[in-house]
Amino acid sequence: MTDPHLLTLTVNGAEHEVVVEPRRTLADVLRHDLRLTGTHVGCEHGVCGACTVLVDDAPVRACLVFAVQAEGASVRTVESLATDGELSDLQQAFSDHHALQCGFCTPGFLMLAEGVLAEQPDASREDVREALSANLCRCTGYQTIVDAVCATARSRRATQRPGEHATGGARPIEPEAAS
Ligand code: FES
Ligand code: FES
Repeated sequence: MTDPHLLTLTVNGAEHEVVVEPRRTLADVLRHDLRLTGTHVGCEHGVCGACTVLVDDAPVRACLVFAVQAEGASVRTVESLATDGELSDLQQAFSDHHALQCGFCTPGFLMLAEGVLAEQPDASREDVREALSANLCRCTGYQTIVDAVCATARSRRATQRPGEHATGGARPIEPEAAS
């Protein structure tokens, strides 16, 4: 079935109506129809993670999802992170820890990390390494990306009010010895 479909998508808190063929991917609709070009496309078959966005707070490969599948869900792209031109804490940590070189993979890592930090606020360094291994960066060797995400996790935990933590007993994320 290729008949165009009138689709209502909620992206970064705003509703958009677009007419799309059912086979059009979420990545293409975000980039080409909504002009949200922060979501990058690398492999286009679910391997690299450059296209990662959040759908109902879960990290999703936007190249593997049809846009029509996201109807009724809340989609967040990398454009949602900064506020009035001010970097989010996670973006600032990427900058502070030099967690990017070419930067092509960075939007995907940021959105993957946002999903991981929301789902596992107590994530250990090993948990973070494991989760980030889902995405490919050909430049940095990952060490600094892991550093940035762990620093953000630590600072978010430090600013939580007592009793706010869902699971309690946060485990400290220790700096890893240089390898
Ligand atoms: Fe989607 Fe590579 S472009 S996983
Ligand atoms: Fe270049 Fe990740 S910074 S691919």
